[in-house]
Amino acid sequence: MGLEFINLKYKPGKEDLVCLFRVEPNRCSIKEAANNIALESSIGTWTDVSFNKDYVHRLGAKVFSISKEKVKIAYPSELFEKGNAPNILSSIAGNIFGMKAVKNLRLEDIKIPDSILRSFSGPRYGISGIREMMKVKSRPFIGTIIKPKLGLKTRDHAEVAYEAWVGGCDVVKDDENLAGQKFNDFEERVARSLEMANKAEEETGEKKAYLANVTAETKEMLKRADLVEDLGGKFIMVDVVTEGFGALQTLRNESFKLAIHAHRAMHAAFTRNKKHGISMMVLADLSRLIGMDTLHIGTVVGKMEGSLDEVSEINEEVEKKKVKETKIRLEQDWGHIKPVLSVSSGGLHPLHFPYLIKNLGKDIVLQCGGGIHGNILGTRRGAMAARQAIDAIMENCTLKEYSKTHLELASTLAQWGK
Ligand code: 3PG
Ligand code: 3PG
Ligand code: MG
Repeated sequence: MGLEFINLKYKPGKEDLVCLFRVEPNRCSIKEAANNIALESSIGTWTDVSFNKDYVHRLGAKVFSISKEKVKIAYPSELFEKGNAPNILSSIAGNIFGMKAVKNLRLEDIKIPDSILRSFSGPRYGISGIREMMKVKSRPFIGTIIKPKLGLKTRDHAEVAYEAWVGGCDVVKDDENLAGQKFNDFEERVARSLEMANKAEEETGEKKAYLANVTAETKEMLKRADLVEDLGGKFIMVDVVTEGFGALQTLRNESFKLAIHAHRAMHAAFTRNKKHGISMMVLADLSRLIGMDTLHIGTVVGKMEGSLDEVSEINEEVEKKKVKETKIRLEQDWGHIKPVLSVSSGGLHPLHFPYLIKNLGKDIVLQCGGGIHGNILGTRRGAMAARQAIDAIMENCTLKEYSKTHLELASTLAQWGK
């Protein structure tokens, strides 16, 4: 076979889906490896087949750019079933990762054409919808995750949530690995936590959201989302990778009025290796396309891996209407698809807030688990310290200056300031 899927003169059309790959060939040239990727991810196989008609050939993917290890491939949008995320992934992120022609292969980004964008819903709320729901005009949101992450009994879980809300958190969420275990039954947890959220709303005059983790077998997941809505909840969370993209679409397309928070647990199994796998940028694209309202993007500081450049480019990808091409990203116009509110979480405490807000902006949920419940003054005053840090930043004041009149922040500076 020749290199018939390579056409370096080709200019991708408006209706092409474009992929940016990082390719490391295995005992062949990069052109041969790229040709193999393009054929396997579109219409071809390892040899010519007898029914190779012209009308099929027209749908072949085209390698139109090779620059060192970076390869760009254009796919006619007819190759994909509209509104079917798993189908799209089975082509552009399917067999190709296991081919002998590549030693390593990483899908860095995708540019999604308008006809495909139009076949998905995108977020129901997006940034402005969430701000409206929570009655928070312009400051960053504060969130917490109930800790210990597993093992707490329902009554204690709801009590910790209450303490965090009255201290100043906007959002309290379950952890990624909490579902409906014996020690903390789903239905009872949601009922008690929402009761506490209401109590905290009455006491503080602020909106409080509880994000119950509905991650489960698909029908059970829908049942749980339904239950949250019935009990008066407005927000849920789901582990997007372990739940699976088809189920996510089902969740988004059901007529719930719930906002959906996307937890990315397990993503690093395929996003972390810079040479092989699928980037976090692509997972962010899929989350926005399918319609998650908030998404973890990384912390830069804190306990999770991810450089400032990468995290801020993902932040732009989910929050802006249009983004420009960079080394790790393709340009994208998101059209009618609403922006996703980004979430930073993982090893954070309030002293990280100035850095995060400076670099990622005010449209963000800053979440601390240990950074609130591990405060030596306890959960409530830990949440107060987090809120004081946000207030200081909004008033253009340094945390040190603000701590002179705010005890909880002062104590946090003493605890984690070094
Ligand atoms: C991530 O970056 O995905 C997180 O560390 C997850 O954080 P959470 O469980 O605190 O929301
Ligand atoms: C996690 O599971 O990693 C978290 O929920 C983040 O918690 P942390 O703020 O205690 O790191
Ligand atoms: Mg967690």
